Amino acid sequence: MNLAGKNVLIYGIANSHSIAYGIAKELQNQGCNIGLSYASQALIKRVLPIAEEVGAKFCLECDVSKDYEIRELYSQIAKQWDKIDIIVHSIAYAPKDELNLDFHNTSRHGFIVAMDISVYSLIAVVREAMPYLSPDASILTLTYYGSQKVAPNYGVMGVAKAALESAVRYLAYSLGEHGIRINALSAGPIRTLSSSAVSGLSQLQKRIEKTAPLARNITLEDIAKSAVYLVSDLSSGVTGETLYVDAGINIMAY
Ligand SMILES: NC(=O)c1ccc[n+]([C@@H]2O[C@H](COP(=O)([O-])OP(=O)(O)OC[C@H]3O[C@@H](n4cnc5c(N)ncnc54)[C@H](O)[C@@H]3O)[C@@H](O)[C@H]2O)c1
Repeated sequence: MNLAGKNVLIYGIANSHSIAYGIAKELQNQGCNIGLSYASQALIKRVLPIAEEVGAKFCLECDVSKDYEIRELYSQIAKQWDKIDIIVHSIAYAPKDELNLDFHNTSRHGFIVAMDISVYSLIAVVREAMPYLSPDASILTLTYYGSQKVAPNYGVMGVAKAALESAVRYLAYSLGEHGIRINALSAGPIRTLSSSAVSGLSQLQKRIEKTAPLARNITLEDIAKSAVYLVSDLSSGVTGETLYVDAGINIMAY
């Protein structure tokens, strides 16, 4: 594996609990050049110190619900980098009211927003990146097991994650002829800004400690190390996959 000198664009750092933060730190340790993109001005106070910590070459705002902002982001990046080798998409969003409710009460608006930010954004981010991607580029997104089985309170995000994993497979097929790979990492529950919106996280983590094969919850480091595998040439023959990094809980029937 040689990640030294690779240009990595990371979407989705909100604070130091973010999964994207753990991945950024690990990729920095591997010698990558890190570039960050964050959602909005409201996050800047927390994101700028992180950008400094990971030695980010740039830290640029981009709301992925807007195609023109994504295009503008890449044109800014092109002023500093001649290519992008790796993209980490660590973004999801559903209006808080849409979680923790009976699923049949999901609103049309909530459904559309969740699908737009959590699924379509991956397609948009990849499409606009195409002119800048290196021939063996690797792309990674983050998903959760609530896509496959019902996770109480996860609601519309479970449906969005199912669509995201499917989008990864379709993208793998259309990007394959360009030599570009894309995979999803399915992380076990970990407390972050986003996951705190889902009720019952602590109880779920306690249950995982009792029932997962590894009898513990996962850490940011667990996720980051597997992310290194998926974005590096260690996984050169792997694309369209969903890799579980969840202490094994997904293999259990009960
Ligand atoms: N925390 C968990 O338990 C867990 C488990 C499995 C998968 N995931 C997934 O990991 C990814 C990262 O989530 P996290 O848990 O680190 O939480 P997080 O809140 O730290 O990260 C989510 C990020 O999405 C960004 N985002 C939301 N709307 C955006 C927009 N319009 N434009 C640009 N960025 C936007 C937020 O600013 C934030 O940085 C998500 O896809 C999440 O579903 C999380």
